[in-house]
Amino acid sequence: MIRTPEALIPYILLIAMVLGGLAWNLGDQTGAGQVFTSGEASIGGPFTLTDQNGATRTDKDFHGRWTLVYFGYTRCPDVCPLTLEMIGDTLTRLGPKANKITPVFITVDPARDTPPVLKQYVAAFGKSFVGLTGTQQQIDRVAKEYRVYAKKHPLPGGDYGMDHSSEIYLMDPNGNFAMDYNTEDGPDKVAADLAKRL
Ligand code: NI
Repeated sequence: MIRTPEALIPYILLIAMVLGGLAWNLGDQTGAGQVFTSGEASIGGPFTLTDQNGATRTDKDFHGRWTLVYFGYTRCPDVCPLTLEMIGDTLTRLGPKANKITPVFITVDPARDTPPVLKQYVAAFGKSFVGLTGTQQQIDRVAKEYRVYAKKHPLPGGDYGMDHSSEIYLMDPNGNFAMDYNTEDGPDKVAADLAKRL
């Protein structure tokens, strides 16, 4: 019989906890529905959200089309409107090829960005824009899938703004990540890149 010396028990527990945590992390990263391709980080995944008309929309609704996915919020004072305007200009430059692309704006501020608020907002950038909102849980999930950072920051007077990452994701007709752009790329460069891909 081997008796475990009592002094070793804390160490054994610690090792068990570390191994348990490692297994949990691996399980989390290879979660259902995610496909890893070599050399490319997995961006995107399944979602169920609500569009600016109040209709339920899932990732599958966009399969068969290219999408330009951008996360932000309607009260954003600078980066969001600049970026959405840039996307709108890009689609104008693309001409008829733009019909293959749906620009999708997903809010990181679902408490305030209700469907009617989104509807008014996205209409200002082009008629093909889709605005998506949802429960906080739904938004948290899709933000995590797209590796989007979003965090509230307090403003004077009890109001709040959102800090958020600002990447424009091009997703292919299978819903897989194809490319990312940012606001500074500008409509000429982005339109030229898209024209080669479509
Ligand atoms: Ni913003």
